[in-house]
This record gives sequence, C-alpha cells and structure tokens, in this order.
Amino acid sequence: MNKHARVDERPIPFIDVAAQRRRLGRAVDDAIARVLAHCQFIQGPEVRALESELAAFCGARHAIACSSGTDALRLVLMAWGIGPGDAVICPSFTFCATAEVVALAGATPVLADVLPDTFNLDAASCERAIVTAKQRGLTPRAIIPVDLFGLPAEHDAIGGIAAAHGLKVLDDAAQAFGATYKSRKLGTLAHATATSFFPAKPLGCYGDGGAIFTDDDGLAARIKSLRVHGESPNDKYDTQHVGLTARLDTVQAAVLLEKLKIFPEEIASRNSAAKRYGAAFDDLAIVPAVGDDMTSVWAQYTIRLEPGRRGGLAAALKAQGIPTAVYYAKPLHRQAAYRGFPVAQGGLSVSERLAEEVISLPIHAYLEAPVQDRIIAAVRGALTCAS
Ligand SMILES: Cc1ncc(COP(=O)(O)O)c(C=O)c1O
Repeated sequence: MNKHARVDERPIPFIDVAAQRRRLGRAVDDAIARVLAHCQFIQGPEVRALESELAAFCGARHAIACSSGTDALRLVLMAWGIGPGDAVICPSFTFCATAEVVALAGATPVLADVLPDTFNLDAASCERAIVTAKQRGLTPRAIIPVDLFGLPAEHDAIGGIAAAHGLKVLDDAAQAFGATYKSRKLGTLAHATATSFFPAKPLGCYGDGGAIFTDDDGLAARIKSLRVHGESPNDKYDTQHVGLTARLDTVQAAVLLEKLKIFPEEIASRNSAAKRYGAAFDDLAIVPAVGDDMTSVWAQYTIRLEPGRRGGLAAALKAQGIPTAVYYAKPLHRQAAYRGFPVAQGGLSVSERLAEEVISLPIHAYLEAPVQDRIIAAVRGALTCAS
C-alpha cells in the first residue's frame, strides 16, 4: 500500500444487526404489523408457525419456542426433574447460563475441561467429572455439551458416555443453531437441544427468545405445560406442575419467521468470511479448527495467540475502528458465582489456558469483502509488527 494512503478508520460494528434490519426492511415491518392487527400477542398463530418451521429446518420432531436460551435450558432440566443431590456435567469454558440453570434447579454443576482446538467439551474430562460427582455423593443425571462459538461439540463421544452411564444429554446450542454434525443439524443430536434467539446470535430476534428441540413426545408435552405455569392440556386453571412464564412473544415469532427465510444464505455468508479469515491468519495465530464432518455457523470467529499478545492486537485494531472481544476471559470455575462447584478430576488446564489466549474478531453475515480486507490487513499488520 502507498504509505501516504489514508487508512480507513471508520468504526466497524462487531455484529451488524442494523445491516440485516436494512435488508429485511418492509418484510419485518409487515410481519409485525400483522401481529398488531390480530392482537394475539401471546401464543398467536406466528408462534405455532415458527415452531413448525424450526422443527422442519433442523429435522426435530418438536420445536418449542420460549422466552430465552436460558429458559430453554431451564425448562428441560425442570421437565427431567433434575434437582438437589443431582449432578450435571458442564464445560467450564462457556457462558454462565449453561451452569446457571443447573444451580437454579438446586442441582450441582460439575465443571469439565474443553478441547484446545475446538473449545468444546472434552469427552475424557467429562468422564472424569462423572467420577468426581459420584465421589461427592451426587447422582450424575445429565451432560450439557455446548456448541461453542457456533461449532458442534463431539456429540457421538458425549452421547456414548451418556448412554454408558444412563445420563441425559441437553445440547446447549445457544450459539450454534443451524450448524451440522455428520450431516445432521443441531436440534437432533441429543435428548433435548436448547437454543437462543438473543439478537446477536446467528438466528436472533428483536428481544429475548429461545427454543427447545426434541424427538421425545412426553418431554415436549411437559415442557409445553411448564412454559405456561405447568397448566393442564385442557384446563389452564388446573395446574399440573410448578412451572414458569416462559413463552416466546408473538411479535418475536413474526420477526423470526422472516429471518428464518434468509438464514441459510446468512450461514453461507458467515462461512465465506470465516474461510477468508482462516486462510489469512493461519500463519500468525491458531485459527478455529472445523472437522470435516461438521459445519459451524460462526457465532464468533475466535483465534488464539500466546498469552500476553491479545491486548496489543486489540489496541492496534481499536485504533483503526475495529472492535474485538474476549469470550471468555475467565472460565466458570474462576468466577465468583461458580468457584465453589466441583471440577473434574485432573483439573481444567485447557479452559484456563484458553481464557488467556482467545480473542474474537468481527464476524456476521453482512461483513462485505472490502471490510473483511480491512480487518485482515489490520490483524496481519498488528501481528506481524508484534512478532
Ligand atoms: C452458551 C450459551 N448458553 C446459553 C445462553 C443463554 O441464552 P439467552 O441469553 O437467550 O438466555 C447463551 C447466551 O448468550 C449462551 O451463549
């Protein structure tokens, strides 16, 4: 580049929700207007339509829309009757909601380590966490693998461990709805799958929202009851279970129906940005590894640098209007709320190392090639200078 050329320093959004809003334009306005016209704001027809489209999209028998990704996880644990004295194995390198729902149920999250190349639950550590739980006198009941940053966890290995120990698997696909594992979409790989429609997620709404997927008819019926105070199927004032108010608003369902139409195209766009990043950075950083039998939806694009280097990269990018983020600077077992819970035998050294090494770069479906070029040049410039 000509050394006198002006560097473009206009701020780049980390996730550009507004670009998608511009693209959807009237379609979303009209969808919301239809809800405003029929006034069925709770459990309106769009909610049922969304549930059948979501189920068809991923191939699950049931999709149950609800109020958030956290409530999606929570409803499943409630439906399984998980509570005091029970242990649920969770990775430590995740967002707090994964373990929060276990603690809220009165059960004990037992934190396991993750794999360094995928950031996802390490099956061997998961086995050790089961041993730890039993040694503490707890009854292991379930495993919650997380498909972190959009990439599926090792579902076959985790499913095998669960089957061997008689445990349920609740897939936390909050960041990864739309991703595939061995040609199957998430939503079909565990006894139940939870996802989030938080606006910044790959499939997000315009507020809070979530969904549960399962092939189990009994579980689906119980969750549908629990999301409306535990009501009976035929009499809402005859309560069967102690439940929650955890429905998805009809307006959010209407928004999601429009977004689902363009979702496959958006996933393809995220993948092409990730492919360019991978080719551009793999000589300078550890770039995400996606197995041949998986696809990611790239909720985050997260690279690893030696400890102590990411601060310099973040500062250099910030000076050029390029935001970065660190997910996660502290694994759960280092956070005040979760420090007291048991960790798998052998420790969680990978989670601890990753917490010092990871840094995420802007990625979304509307990251155009010239903006990608700007980010690539800035990252390469900063890492080459510093190395
Ligand atoms: C891994 C993971 N689990 C659960 C959640 C909870 O989703 P929500 O924010 O919709 O409650 C999130 C959201 O950030 C998440 O990243």
